[in-house]
Amino acid sequence: MEKLTIIGGVPLIGELAVQGAKNSSLPLLAAAMLVKGKTVLHNCPDLTDVDAACKILSYLGCRIRREGSTVEIDASRVDRYDVPDDLMREMRSSIVFLGAIAARMNAAQISFPGGCELGPRPIDLHLMGLRQLGLRIKEGYGLLDCELRSKRFVGSRISFSFPSVGATENVIIAAATALGRTVITNAAQEPEIVALAEFLNQCGAKIYGAGESTIVIEGVPVLSETEFRVIPDRIVAVTYLCAAAATGGEVLLTDVLTDQLDSVFPVLDQMGCKLRITDRSVYLKAPLRLKAVKPIRTMPYPGFPTDAQAPVMTVTALASGTSMFVENVFENRYKHVSELVRMGANIKVEGKVAVVEGVNSLYGASVESTDLRGGAALVIAGLAASGTTTISNLYHIDRGYERIEQNLAGLGGRIHREA
Ligand code: UD1
Repeated sequence: MEKLTIIGGVPLIGELAVQGAKNSSLPLLAAAMLVKGKTVLHNCPDLTDVDAACKILSYLGCRIRREGSTVEIDASRVDRYDVPDDLMREMRSSIVFLGAIAARMNAAQISFPGGCELGPRPIDLHLMGLRQLGLRIKEGYGLLDCELRSKRFVGSRISFSFPSVGATENVIIAAATALGRTVITNAAQEPEIVALAEFLNQCGAKIYGAGESTIVIEGVPVLSETEFRVIPDRIVAVTYLCAAAATGGEVLLTDVLTDQLDSVFPVLDQMGCKLRITDRSVYLKAPLRLKAVKPIRTMPYPGFPTDAQAPVMTVTALASGTSMFVENVFENRYKHVSELVRMGANIKVEGKVAVVEGVNSLYGASVESTDLRGGAALVIAGLAASGTTTISNLYHIDRGYERIEQNLAGLGGRIHREA
């Protein structure tokens, strides 16, 4: 099993361009199925989750070509509507294909996506939204057997009890080519939703209000070919900023849409980091001693992102004073804590609250990555710790971070991967 070995204690210094966003690429790849022709996605990150999405598209009949960071999806022909269990399991968010498959094929057959490392991951909101648009869904024996009542989805009013990112994406995709108007209230407002709407609108869809809590979609009969650039990954940007902060470093990140990180910059500022922010770049210089921060509550966008909780927690573990986190989005998102504690962190968890007493230093240990962002938090801890850290279960990290060890080594980190 592959491992990352990190010799910590070296400040990260230098410049890095941030990769394209995983969480934007996945719904874009699903939405490409609606186009009876070619979609070209630029800046598409090279990640196992993106590979898994491409495998699903290929299985369904699409032709996929990757050249560097450009992925071309030819969905002229789609001849299947089922996704086998093993492909569904490869990627937790494969449920985002449901609306696209049903819109294109009038039917879909997929296995129930299992729970995940962040706790139970229900899909009730996805199913409610798609049912509301006319999808008949039979659930049983771990399978979702779906059929459209008519030749197209039919526009409707959908009100989410929670602004689920994936469910909002599924409904947008399904409604884009539906008959009539769909209105989503309490929609997710994440930048990935805005990017999906922009992509679909570029293909000829009529989606209004993405990025706000009410989205209106006037269904159109067909979508046309387009080229689109995947937005930069805001969580990867936060991760590298945290790595620089925790190691006493100084970095300039380019390819960052900084207005998407308005909820994170004040936290780095409170820690004492010096920040210089332009529209598309951010420079961070760590202070001599990090300071604790005011309570951080994770929230749907534009609140503090749950995906940034673990990386930021590592930095607070090294700050003087007490910091507190309240995880409001996922039930079970503190699995990294026990691994950070192995490295000398002083963190206590009770329900959705984590209290972090900063320590002077972390020390190298052998730890296991527990989930994608928790794994990134351990990488940051390893870079900051004194001594050598080895991190196993890298498949979590590889789902979302492109060439993480090369990027960090480029900033001076002593990190390498061993088979
Ligand atoms: C997406 C992101 C993930 C991020 C999350 C929240 C992708 C591929 N992943 O995940 O990185 O952490 O947004 O910003 O974009 N829920 C339900 N029923 C549903 C759907 C969700 O109860 O049908 C609950 C979930 O259990 C969770 C909360 O809603 O507690 C948020 O989930 P959601 O916004 O749907 O996250 P994802 O789209 O899965």
